[in-house]
Amino acid sequence: MTKLRLGVLVSGGGSNLQSIIDHCDSGYLPAEVVIVISSKGGVYALERAKRHNIPSVVVSPKDYPNRQAYEDEMAKILRSYDVGLVVLAGFLKVLSPHFVNAFQGRIMNIHPSLIPAFCGEGYYGEKVHKAALDYGVKISGVTVHFVDEGADTGPIILQRAVPVMDDDTPESLAERVLQEEHKIYPEAIKLFAENRLKVVGRKVKIIKGRKIDD
Ligand code: GAR
Repeated sequence: MTKLRLGVLVSGGGSNLQSIIDHCDSGYLPAEVVIVISSKGGVYALERAKRHNIPSVVVSPKDYPNRQAYEDEMAKILRSYDVGLVVLAGFLKVLSPHFVNAFQGRIMNIHPSLIPAFCGEGYYGEKVHKAALDYGVKISGVTVHFVDEGADTGPIILQRAVPVMDDDTPESLAERVLQEEHKIYPEAIKLFAENRLKVVGRKVKIIKGRKIDD
């Protein structure tokens, strides 16, 4: 079976990138990470790519005259690597409709809460967990969704709940949620790779047991 070619977009530590690489290496994922694009230089995700001999490049919005030029450069790179799925893994830029349309139905994001809670513009990383703790929720979680033109508004593929403890800090909650992220993202990518995700309006139907060659 041909492997799904993944282009992973990052902005930070890249623990989700690491989990995806490890699940490719173990054979769980019928996929390979062919390019890593970071919106920032010097982040640990780039080191992870290097250690696995995966090509990586920094494409920073600062270096482009406008958003379209920035996104066009990323799209050009992703196409040059013949990427079949664009995976946002701690990527902290919201993509414009221009980019989203160019990879229609082929961009996934992971968000560290149960969407539609604590999501949208400005909710990223520990800010999400601080907002959940300030609100007093007893359960938070993880969402993997397809990316549409909005911020965290696309059809939901998988969600998993994570309990909130009385003495949680944003850091301790982030850590517990990340453990779940590292399992759920490979699961969602595997479903996509096996051609088992069908988007019907806002809903993503998971087709049972069908393989890509069916
Ligand atoms: C993860 O918790 C991811 O869900 C979150 O950033 C972290 C990146 O960690 N993404 C967002 O908040 C997107 N809105 P990582 O770099 O170790 O994978």
